[in-house]
Amino acid sequence: MCKSVMICLALVASISMVLVQGQTQTQQTCAQATSLDFNNQTYFSGQWFEVARNPAASVACITLNVGFWQNTNMLVNVSHSSSSTSLLADVHESANITLVAGSTAGYNVSIVKGNQQEHVFIKLLQFVNNTYLTGCRYTGSDASTSAGFILARSNYTAEGVKIANTNASAYYSNFQASTYGNVTQLNCYASSAGQTGPLTLISGFLALALLLIKA
Ligand SMILES: *[C@@H]1O[C@H](CO)[C@@H](O)[C@H](O)[C@H]1NC(C)=O
Ligand SMILES: *[C@@H]1O[C@H](CO)[C@@H](O)[C@H](O)[C@H]1NC(C)=O
Ligand SMILES: *[C@@H]1O[C@H](CO)[C@@H](O)[C@H](O)[C@H]1NC(C)=O
Ligand SMILES: *[C@@H]1O[C@H](CO)[C@@H](O)[C@H](O)[C@H]1NC(C)=O
Ligand SMILES: *[C@@H]1O[C@H](CO)[C@@H](O)[C@H](O)[C@H]1NC(C)=O
Ligand SMILES: *[C@@H]1O[C@H](CO)[C@@H](O)[C@H](O)[C@H]1NC(C)=O
Ligand SMILES: *[C@@H]1O[C@H](CO)[C@@H](O)[C@H](O)[C@H]1NC(C)=O
Ligand SMILES: *[C@@H]1O[C@H](CO)[C@@H](O)[C@H](O)[C@H]1NC(C)=O
Repeated sequence: MCKSVMICLALVASISMVLVQGQTQTQQTCAQATSLDFNNQTYFSGQWFEVARNPAASVACITLNVGFWQNTNMLVNVSHSSSSTSLLADVHESANITLVAGSTAGYNVSIVKGNQQEHVFIKLLQFVNNTYLTGCRYTGSDASTSAGFILARSNYTAEGVKIANTNASAYYSNFQASTYGNVTQLNCYASSAGQTGPLTLISGFLALALLLIKA
C-alpha cells in the first residue's frame, strides 16, 4: 500500500491532523500525551463511572472507586459486567498505584483480578468542569492498541459526554468527534439478588427522558 516509509509517515501525519477553529492542530497519540498528575486527592477521590470509550468497551456498568493512601498511593477498585450486554457488575478488580511526586508520565498500572494480573498503561488527559475526566490507556507495552476513555461523576449528561469527547478529539488521536461507544450504566446491578438495591444510575438526561415518557 505505502510505497515508502516516508509516504506512510506522511499519510499517518495527515490522518492525525484536525481542523480546530480554522487552524490545523496535531493530535497527540497516547504515547505522546502528557498526563495530569494522578496525585490529586481533592479532585479525583470517590466514585467515577466510565461513560464512554473509543473503541467501544466490551463490558458495561464500569464503576471506579478511587482513594488515596498517605498521599503516596492511589487505590482503585473497579467493578464491571462480564460483557457489553450484561448489566450484572460481577467482575471486581483493584489497583494500588505507587505515585511519583509531580509525575505527568502516566502509570503502568497493575490491575489485579483474583489471582490474575494485567498491566494497563494509563494517562489522565483532561479534567472538565469537575465532572468529566478523559484519559487514554493501552495494554502491555503496545501503544498502538490504545483506547480513549471518559470517566464521569454521577451528575453527567449525554450532552456533556459528547462535549467532552469533542473537546478531547481536538487534542488526542484516541478520540474522534462524534464517534465513541457509550458504556451502559442504566439499570446496572451488583448481584442477582440486588435488583432492588442496585448500582442503578440514571443520569439527569435519562431521568428527564424517562419522566417525559411516563408523563
Ligand atoms: C488538581 O486538579 C485541579 C483542577 O483541575 C488543579 O487546579 C490542580 O492544579 C490539580 N493539582 C495537582 C497537584 O495537579
Ligand atoms: C476497595 O475495596 C476494599 C474491599 O472491599 C475496601 O476495603 C476498600 O476501602 C476499597 N477502596 C476504595 C478506594 O474504595
Ligand atoms: C499499597 O501499596 C503499598 C506499597 O506501595 C502498601 O504499603 C499498601 O499497604 C498497599 N495498600 C493496599 C490497600 O493494598
Ligand atoms: C475542554 O477541556 C479543557 C481541559 O483540558 C477545559 O478547560 C475546557 O473547559 C473544556 N471545554 C469544554 C467546552 O468543555
Ligand atoms: C457534578 O458534581 C461535582 C461534585 O461531585 C461538582 O463539582 C460538579 O460541578 C457537578 N457538575 C455539574 C455539571 O453539575
Ligand atoms: C508495564 O509493565 C509490564 C510488566 O512489567 C511490562 O510487560 C510492560 O511492557 C510495561 N508497559 C509499559 C508501557 O512500560
Ligand atoms: C463546561 O462548562 C462550560 C461553561 O459552562 C460549558 O460551556 C461546557 O460545555 C462544559 N463542558 C462540558 C463537557 O460539559
Ligand atoms: C450515547 O447515548 C446517548 C443517549 O444516552 C445518545 O443520545 C447518543 O447518541 C449515544 N452516542 C453514541 C456515540 O452512541
